[in-house]
Amino acid sequence: MRNATIFFLRRLFVCLSVLAPCLLTAQVKEPVKYIGPDSCAATSCHGNVKPIADSRILQNEYSTWILQDKHSRAYQALTGDVGERMARILKLGANAEEAPKCLACHALYATPEQRGRAFEISEGVSCENCHGPASAWLGPHTTRSWLHEKSVALGMTDTRSVIHRTEKCLECHLGTKNKFVDHEMIAAGHPDLYFELDSFSAVMPRHWKVPRESEPGKPAEDPAWVGVREWSTGQAVQLRAAMERLTWRAKGERIDKKDAWPEYSELSCFACHHALGPAKDSWRQEHGYVGRRPGDPAWNASSYAVFRLLAKQIDSANGQELDRQVLLVSDEMSKLNPDRNVVAAAACAAAPLAQRIAERLAVMQYDQAVVLRILQRIPDDAENIALADERAAEQAAMALDSLYIAYSRATKHANAAEVRAAINGLFQQLENPSAYNADQFASALRRIRSLL
Ligand code: HEC
Ligand code: HEC
Ligand code: HEC
Ligand code: HEC
Repeated sequence: MRNATIFFLRRLFVCLSVLAPCLLTAQVKEPVKYIGPDSCAATSCHGNVKPIADSRILQNEYSTWILQDKHSRAYQALTGDVGERMARILKLGANAEEAPKCLACHALYATPEQRGRAFEISEGVSCENCHGPASAWLGPHTTRSWLHEKSVALGMTDTRSVIHRTEKCLECHLGTKNKFVDHEMIAAGHPDLYFELDSFSAVMPRHWKVPRESEPGKPAEDPAWVGVREWSTGQAVQLRAAMERLTWRAKGERIDKKDAWPEYSELSCFACHHALGPAKDSWRQEHGYVGRRPGDPAWNASSYAVFRLLAKQIDSANGQELDRQVLLVSDEMSKLNPDRNVVAAAACAAAPLAQRIAERLAVMQYDQAVVLRILQRIPDDAENIALADERAAEQAAMALDSLYIAYSRATKHANAAEVRAAINGLFQQLENPSAYNADQFASALRRIRSLL
C-alpha cells in the first residue's frame, strides 16, 4: 500500500523534474506516449491535498485518485489471494499481474513503444486510462487560454461528452472483444460486471466539478439534473454496448476465438444460482415461466428492463422499434440453444436505436416534472421488473436512488426520509442475491410508488 510519505516525496520529485522536460518533448514529433500519473501530481497541477477555491478545476484530482479511488489499486487486486487463485484456475501460465488477460483492465496496459519513461504498470487504472495518452498535450494544456478541444485533437479523450465518458467506463465495466469477463472467469472468482454511470461516478468518487463551469457560448448546466442526465444517458449507452457485446459474442468474434455459446454471463445469473426450497414456496413456479420453456435460463434483461420505460417516455417511435428488437433478443436468448444469427441480427439492429436515444437524452432538458414521471414509472412497472431478473431489480434500485437524490434536492418533500428508507430497503433485499424474491421486491417497489 502506498503511504502519505511516498505520496509527498513523489510530488516533490515531480515538481522539480517531470514537468520541465515534458514541456520540451511536446514540441518534438513523436508517437503519443503514456507518461504515468506522477506527471500530473505536482501541487501546482492536480496534486493539491484540498480543492483550490476559484479554480476552474479542483486541482486535487491526483490526491483523490490515489487516496480514495479504487482504480489506483486495480493492479493490487491482481496480486491478492483471489487474483492469484483465478490465475491458477484459469491456467494463465503466469501470475495474474503478469497476464495480459487481466492487465488489460487492471492497469494502463500499453505496448512498450507507447510507454514513456516514468511509466509504471503497477500504478493501476490511472489518469491516462480515462483521459488518453498525455505526452502530446501535457505541456501545452497548462498554458493559459488553452482550449479543451486542442487537447482532444492531441489525443485527450473527450470525457465531457456523457456518451463518450460512459463508453470509456464500459470498456472495462462491460468489456470488449479484446478484454472481457466471461462466466469462466466469474466461476474462477471474478466479480460479475455491472454498471450505472451516476452511482459509479459517485462511488469512484468524482474528482471533477459538478456542474462544470459553463463554457463560452453555451448555457450553464442546471446543477440539479446533472446526475439525472448521467443516469439516463448512461443507461442508453449501456444498452447499446450490451447489444454490441451480444452481437460479437453471437458471431464468435472474441480475440481468442474461444467464445462459449450461449455465454452464461449474458443470462440471468440467478436462474441457475438460486437457492431451492419446497415447491409450494417457489415464486418462480407460482408465476410460471412466461415466454420460455420451464427450466431454460432466461436472458439477463438488466440493461433493458428499466431503461425501456424511459425510452418509451421520451422517444416513442425509436422506443417502440427498440422494444421489438430487444424482445427478439430476449426470446431467442431465453432458449436453451439460442440461434446465433437471430440473436446477432436483432442485437445489431437494437444498438443504433439505443444510440439515437442516448443522443437525445444527452442534450435533453430535465426538470422536476420529467424526473417525477420517471420515478413513478419504475414502480408502476414493479411486477415486470421484479420478475425479469435480480439484476434488473438492482438497476431499478440504483435508478430510484439516483433519481430521488436529484428530485429531493431540488425541492423538499415532507416524507423524504421515508422514501429514502424505502429505497435503502430495496438494496437490502439484494444483499443475498441467491435468496432474491421477486414478489417481495415488487411489493417494496409498489410501496415506494404510494409515497411519491
Ligand atoms: C473487462 C475488464 C476486466 C478484465 C479483463 C479483468 N477484470 Fe478484474 N475487474 C474488473 C472490474 C471493472 C472490476 C470491479 C468490478 C466491480 O466492483 O464492479 C474488477 C474486479 C476484480 C477483482 C476484485 C477486486 C476487489 O477489489 O475486490 C479481482 C480479484 C479481479 N478483478 C481479478 C482479475 C483477474 C485475475 C483478471 C484476469 C484473469 C481480471 N480481473 C480481468 C474488470 C476486469
Ligand atoms: C476511471 C476514469 C478516470 C481516471 C482514472 C481519472 N479520471 Fe479525471 N476525469 C474522469 C471523468 C469521467 C471526468 C469528468 C469529465 C468531464 O466532466 O469533463 C474527469 C475529470 C477530470 C478533470 C476535470 C476536467 C475538466 O475539464 O473539468 C481533471 C483535471 C482530471 N479529471 C484529472 C485527472 C487526473 C490528474 C487523474 C489521475 C491522477 C485522473 N483524472 C484520473 C475520469 C477519470
Ligand atoms: C481501464 C479499465 C477501467 C476503466 C476505463 C474504468 N474502470 Fe472503473 N474499475 C476498473 C477496475 C479494474 C476496477 C476494480 C478495482 C479494484 O477493486 O481493485 C474498477 C472499479 C471501479 C469502481 C469501484 C467499484 C467497487 O466495487 O467499489 C467504480 C465506482 C468504478 N470503477 C467506476 C468507474 C467509472 C465511473 C468509470 C468511467 C468514468 C470507470 N470506472 C472506468 C477498471 C476500469
Ligand atoms: C446456465 C446456468 C448458469 C448461469 C446462467 C450462470 N451460471 Fe454461474 N455457474 C453455473 C455452473 C454450472 C457453475 C459450476 C458450479 C459447480 O461446479 O459447482 C457455475 C459457477 C459459478 C460460480 C462459482 C461457484 C462457487 O461456488 O464459487 C460463480 C461465482 C458463478 N457461477 C456466478 C455466476 C454469475 C454472476 C452469473 C451471471 C452473470 C452466472 N453465474 C450465470 C451455471 C450458471
